[in-house]
Amino acid sequence: MTSDNDRRRGLLARLRGRPGAPSRGRRRLGAAVRLVAALMLAGGAYTVLAPGAAAQENPPLSTAAADGKALFDVSCLTCHGSNAQGVEGRGPSLIGVGAASVEFQVSTGRMPMARQEAQAARKPVVFTRDEIDQLAAYVQELGGGPVVPSGENLHADGNVALGGELFRINCSQCHAFSGGGGALSSGKYAPSLGPATDRQIYSAMLSGPQNMPVFGDNQITPEQKADIIAYIQQTLNNDGDPGGFFNLGRYGPSTEGVAIFLVGIVALVFASLWIAGKS
Ligand code: HEC
Ligand code: HEC
Repeated sequence: MTSDNDRRRGLLARLRGRPGAPSRGRRRLGAAVRLVAALMLAGGAYTVLAPGAAAQENPPLSTAAADGKALFDVSCLTCHGSNAQGVEGRGPSLIGVGAASVEFQVSTGRMPMARQEAQAARKPVVFTRDEIDQLAAYVQELGGGPVVPSGENLHADGNVALGGELFRINCSQCHAFSGGGGALSSGKYAPSLGPATDRQIYSAMLSGPQNMPVFGDNQITPEQKADIIAYIQQTLNNDGDPGGFFNLGRYGPSTEGVAIFLVGIVALVFASLWIAGKS
């Protein structure tokens, strides 16, 4: 009997809550009111601060960069992501690589890359000069980074002799003394510098593609870069050619003489054998 009554009283007491203490319902209501008040406060604070925060995240692009973004969204987005942040397993982030890297990659036709390979190769260029500048402007405005100086001739003030010295110290171990290039480890290679323009040499030094080190302006000053470019363009690529029509190994006309001698002797031997066979 008593135990039955006790149980009922205990149940009622639990439903009503302890005397003196606020009921559970009222306590819930109080918590809800406080929660709503806190949310409104946070919301208010957000509306005050948010416009500034949003403006910082998406600064308006210049016209050139906006045009560049349109090109980027069509040709580069699949591998580099919608905001050039990179796509796992497809392409690296371009934040901070700068206009120089875009100039190098796109003006040599390496980008847009056609398929995944160990090293993107030089290919026919897909974009016009203006479009390359627009793509470069877009990546530059997204994340900053090194920029190539303007102009097509970047070695007008270059000192060829100093450039040759700098080239032998900094570049020849990979690109060879002739600038002809050479193999590196795991299927990679340092390409020939023959087809490179001034802007491509400059941007290669600023961006350090693949295994090539970055030669920032504090390692090789802009004046020294002009010297190196002068050496590559004037001594290795044209004017300083030691001679000969076919440029075999750049040793001058004697290599050609040897080659013609060997080819000629072989041809004469076969001709005399043929004549001997006829008679
Ligand atoms: C099929 C995928 C693919 C497409 C499309 C592509 N890229 Fe790339 N991109 C890569 C890969 C992979 C690398 C790294 C390979 C390398 O360094 O040789 C790279 C590297 C780069 C780099 C060098 C980044 C650095 O660290 O300096 C730049 C700049 C770049 N891409 C720009 C572009 C632009 C601009 C486009 C569009 C016009 C484009 N890419 C289209 C895959 C792609
Ligand atoms: C450790 C090796 C290494 C050194 C040192 C090096 N490079 Fe390179 N260089 C490379 C590799 C690798 C590539 C190819 C990158 C690619 O295809 O993405 C390259 C590419 C280039 C290209 C682009 C050629 C083209 O048009 O296809 C130029 C220009 C260049 N290097 C200039 C230089 C100069 C100038 C120096 C010295 C200041 C130098 N490199 C030092 C490894 C090197």
